[in-house]
Amino acid sequence: MTDDYLATSMRDVMCAAVTEAHVGQRVSVCGWVARRREHGEKLAFLDVRDRTGLIQAVVDGTVDVRAEYVIRLTGTVTRRPEGTRNERLATGSVELSDCAVEVLAPAEPPPFPLDGRVEVDEAVRLRYRYLDLRRDGVAANLRLRARVNGALRRAMDAQGFCEVETPLLWAPTPEGSREFVIPARLHPGEFFVLPQSPQIAKQLLMVGGFDRYYQLARCLRDEDLRADRQFEFTQLDIEASFVTQDDVMGFVSRAVLDAAEVATGVRPTSIDTMTWAEALDRYGTDKPDLRYEMTLHDLSREFETSSLRAFSAPTVKALRVPGGGEFSRAALDGLTETAKALGAGGLAWFRVTADGLDSPLARHLSADEAAAIRAVDGGAAPGDLILAVADEYVVACRVLGALRVAVASMPVGAGPHRYVWVTEFPLFEGFGDDGHPLAAHHPFTMPHPDDLANLESSPLTVRSQAYDLVLNGWELGSGSVRVHRADIQSRIFRVLGISDEDAQSRFGFMLGAFSYGAPPHAGFAVGVDRLVAIFAGEENIREVIAFPKTQSGSDLMTGAPKSLTARQLAELRLTFAPKGQ
Ligand code: AMO
Repeated sequence: MTDDYLATSMRDVMCAAVTEAHVGQRVSVCGWVARRREHGEKLAFLDVRDRTGLIQAVVDGTVDVRAEYVIRLTGTVTRRPEGTRNERLATGSVELSDCAVEVLAPAEPPPFPLDGRVEVDEAVRLRYRYLDLRRDGVAANLRLRARVNGALRRAMDAQGFCEVETPLLWAPTPEGSREFVIPARLHPGEFFVLPQSPQIAKQLLMVGGFDRYYQLARCLRDEDLRADRQFEFTQLDIEASFVTQDDVMGFVSRAVLDAAEVATGVRPTSIDTMTWAEALDRYGTDKPDLRYEMTLHDLSREFETSSLRAFSAPTVKALRVPGGGEFSRAALDGLTETAKALGAGGLAWFRVTADGLDSPLARHLSADEAAAIRAVDGGAAPGDLILAVADEYVVACRVLGALRVAVASMPVGAGPHRYVWVTEFPLFEGFGDDGHPLAAHHPFTMPHPDDLANLESSPLTVRSQAYDLVLNGWELGSGSVRVHRADIQSRIFRVLGISDEDAQSRFGFMLGAFSYGAPPHAGFAVGVDRLVAIFAGEENIREVIAFPKTQSGSDLMTGAPKSLTARQLAELRLTFAPKGQ
């Protein structure tokens, strides 16, 4: 017997916890047969696996167990003979001998090897996820995730936040993604909606006087899936009253840095801050990846009077790619195609050589223009590449920003972790089909106090008190100071083209609640899946989710989504329009 705290009525010790200190003791372990090797006619070696690892057991060769059988094995802990020790295994200096084996469940041969070293097609892994979880990768990620969740919870508890669970059956929320709808059997023809986030619920908790709320909240959005997007995901969702943006950023920083320390063993020293306008200007994106230096430089003035047609645009932005002179012509053509696909007219490139600039445009440049190109980013050296995009300001920035990410080609989990707060997002982004501006975050976001006067006259120039947290070029989370005053809220609704009637029918319960005294409040939500994926060095959040959906939005294990029986449909009073209508 040992004092392993994971001991149960069936086992004394976890497999990987058997050590030389146990030599001579008789112990029981439980788990799966990871491997069986015959040793002559009389003996067989079994590797027994549980969640902690492996232990080797020497059993009678007639024992009828095969790979993945579930067994309880009782044996005497013995030092392995010299020369047979396995340095790679925590339990490599001992083995169990004189064993009694009890089969708890037989097993079919698994459809793929479970030893973790073999690359297995993801579709097969997802179909048999419960077997994939017996391997190291996803299981280790889920344990990491549990530790991260623990650290987040502790940080929020320590800062006086109260965890509250909010409903999953809810009414439409204002986040703007497509929602999953749930037919209400007791109210035929009516539907619940699964929450895209607890946004409204948490604001109502502030009206309810909670002051500081948090939740590890499941959120559901019916949107196209990508490496950083699933239908269901988890947010560390927070809201607090009588706070400013800086207070919220402080709460979130503490939680995320605590989680980073728990996950990586190192506490990041600081989080940079930049405004949205700066991020766009220098990095061409609102999600700047600060792991590499390259920044965008403005050459608009230098090319203002240029005779080059390719450069006749309001803005010329350039990027120096150190060592990029080695890019092949095919690679440069690829970047040009990317630039065009993103909306630019084209891409100008210049290989910097000892003699000058190598480019189809080189001989059309004036001496001053060539010098301006060579001076980009403190001066280019032979072997560098300069990329330039001429267009409207935002297009030039965004396209070059995307090329910056493409040429750096750095997996999101690789290298150092660089956090940055991006503040002062615009309140609106572009115009909708109805000619009204569109809310960039959601309609309850407070405008920047300095821009409030311009809300109606030039809405697109109005900054908001909305902020994002970015890690290695991924948006980790976002939040804002909320509108708690009815007069400002009505003005925003009017600008958005939401009539009083419309606002009442969509958010009436919320506006009603606010009329009873809403404290000034602000909040944030961190995407936990993204955070854990980066900590785990993964590039797709599927790798940190127990049972994820495929890119095309299905569950290969359960076969969902599935059709319902005629009876279920009738009960819900659902009928379907024939295809094509
Ligand atoms: P937002 O919509 O920006 O804000 O979401 C916050 C964070 O949630 C994560 N996230 C996702 N993760 C995985 N799959 C998805 N489909 C997905 N969608 C979003 C991201 C994102 O940054 N209610 C506001 C927050 C607030 O204002 O307090 C909200 O939900 O990491």
